[in-house]
Amino acid sequence: MCGIFGIITNQNNLSLGKVVLEGIKRLEYRGYDSCGIVSLSNSKLFVKKDSGKIDEIQKKINLAEIPNNSKLALAHTRWATHGAPTKINSHPHLDCSNKIAIVHNGIIENFIELRKDLINQGHIFKSDTDTEVIPHLIEQKMKEGLNFKDSIVEALKLCNGAYGLAVCHADYPDLIIVVRKESPLVIGIEEGKTTYLASDIPAFLPLTRKCYIMEDDELAVLKAGEVDFYDLKNDKKINKELQVIEWTIDAAEKGGYEHFMLKEIYEEPTAMQRTLKISKDLLQVFANILWSAENIYITAAGTSFYASLAGKFIVSRFLGKYIQAIECSEFQTQLSNSLKNNSVIIALSQSGETIDTVEAIRWAKSKKNVKILTITNVVGSTLTRYSDNVIVTQAGPEIGVAATKTYCTQVLTLALIALEIAKLRKVELDSDIEKYEMALKSTPQIIEKFLNENIDEIKNIVNTLEKSVQFFFLARGISIATAKEGGLKLKEVACRFIEGYSAAHAKHGPISLVREGFPIIFIAPPDETYQRLIGNVMEFKARGGKIISLVVEDDKTISELSDLTIRIPQPGDKYHNIFSPITFTPALQLLAYYASLLHGLDPDKPLNLSKTVTVH
Ligand code: G6P
Repeated sequence: MCGIFGIITNQNNLSLGKVVLEGIKRLEYRGYDSCGIVSLSNSKLFVKKDSGKIDEIQKKINLAEIPNNSKLALAHTRWATHGAPTKINSHPHLDCSNKIAIVHNGIIENFIELRKDLINQGHIFKSDTDTEVIPHLIEQKMKEGLNFKDSIVEALKLCNGAYGLAVCHADYPDLIIVVRKESPLVIGIEEGKTTYLASDIPAFLPLTRKCYIMEDDELAVLKAGEVDFYDLKNDKKINKELQVIEWTIDAAEKGGYEHFMLKEIYEEPTAMQRTLKISKDLLQVFANILWSAENIYITAAGTSFYASLAGKFIVSRFLGKYIQAIECSEFQTQLSNSLKNNSVIIALSQSGETIDTVEAIRWAKSKKNVKILTITNVVGSTLTRYSDNVIVTQAGPEIGVAATKTYCTQVLTLALIALEIAKLRKVELDSDIEKYEMALKSTPQIIEKFLNENIDEIKNIVNTLEKSVQFFFLARGISIATAKEGGLKLKEVACRFIEGYSAAHAKHGPISLVREGFPIIFIAPPDETYQRLIGNVMEFKARGGKIISLVVEDDKTISELSDLTIRIPQPGDKYHNIFSPITFTPALQLLAYYASLLHGLDPDKPLNLSKTVTVH
């Protein structure tokens, strides 16, 4: 939800405009409604901003052109919340004197009152944003006699809400001040030369691997090649640990693929191989906690929520206990009177920053003595700080806004925990557990084989369905999670209307929409639901529905009933079937990807979406 990037340097040979443009582009997955850059030269701020995607704005106004002697710049790419995505509302925002500039990710909740007070004091606002109150508040505090840093601290004491923000001042060309509360911020450093700030590490990774991860209520004063951290609450200096990032920028770049989404789908087998190496000890910690828990919840948003639906099905199967899945935004409302002490809550989040997931966990911890087990893809993310135990899924950086490889690694992680539970409980024969393990370990190869052999078939189906604008994705049992996730992908990147639903329940309503040629995608692994699913396929076929089925390689019955079939290379036995959400979903991700291309859309930047949602 909005990306911010900044740089301050003492190097003359650095092409500042180019570095800033490349840095902010690496954060475009966070929002792409508008973009802006502020630089500083001869005690004056230079602002360039407009609405649109970064490349479009660059072409239109040459965003990257900044004064030659500028040694500092801040940039912002926006996902609009308060105020339409227009040039005026895009960041940076300035005070009345045009001396103070700010880029902000987050929301200032009490901005209406603050704005009224500031207008009464004579401040003139240009935008409809919540952010603009901040430069005016800082200006006001400076007028009252405080220095630049203290003005920021005092201004933020008046603001309720979340922020990751960076501020510069025309009269202080050798510093940038950044503050974090709930919205992620990292600082990169080349000691003695250049300091960077960003919402996420890949933004500066080609330039430095050394970084500091800021925590809530921390302020940092950035100078060229140096940084000091302060506790916002008591203004005391703090020491932070310098981290060295192990992965390279290749992992976060397209590497010859046309889009991140395609690259990340093709990375699924290797991402899963890494996930399969998660330490057994850690899996056993999760398994033991779940085994001794009475009440278990799982909570998440978006794709992570559908991974929760699939994963909880697998875990419950071996645990012998029900796990309640609740969307994170509803967690508090649904459990307000019923959350029990000693409950265990599994939080699933690719980014570890989704505000509703973080808030659900914070709320639960504040109410009861609960245990939080987090599964995330990002080391040190906000969610991890509220968790008792954390597993990192090992998918590597995911840049495409629509989650793909992280879905597979999330379900795989839960499946690995499930098998550790099976070993603990000894409710399965050892030989059966071994076969389940073998089946799970073969999932990367199954996906790899599918990706190597089935692309033409997927493209052909996409072409056949070109004119269709609405779809049902139907399934039974664990595959309902696959139907929902596959449908979500098509909705996100190809802008089709879809309903992902229980095939049995679809006769209580959705079926009334079916006419000749209405496309229905049935997810049909040969598990215990298969026979009944045949009946559901017949019901939709009888009403003229166009049946597209996802089946295993040697399927006979449902494929014969279908107009189009996608075959997943996997043996149809009980050991593999329970893991079908992992092996079946990549086919639906690809279907969505090629549908997006067919409709002339950018699958990496779906309309109105953001990869990391840090607003409620
Ligand atoms: C946004 C993204 C989705 C993602 C969801 C949850 O909606 O567009 O792709 O699944 O947030 O994100 P998380 O980082 O918590 O998994």
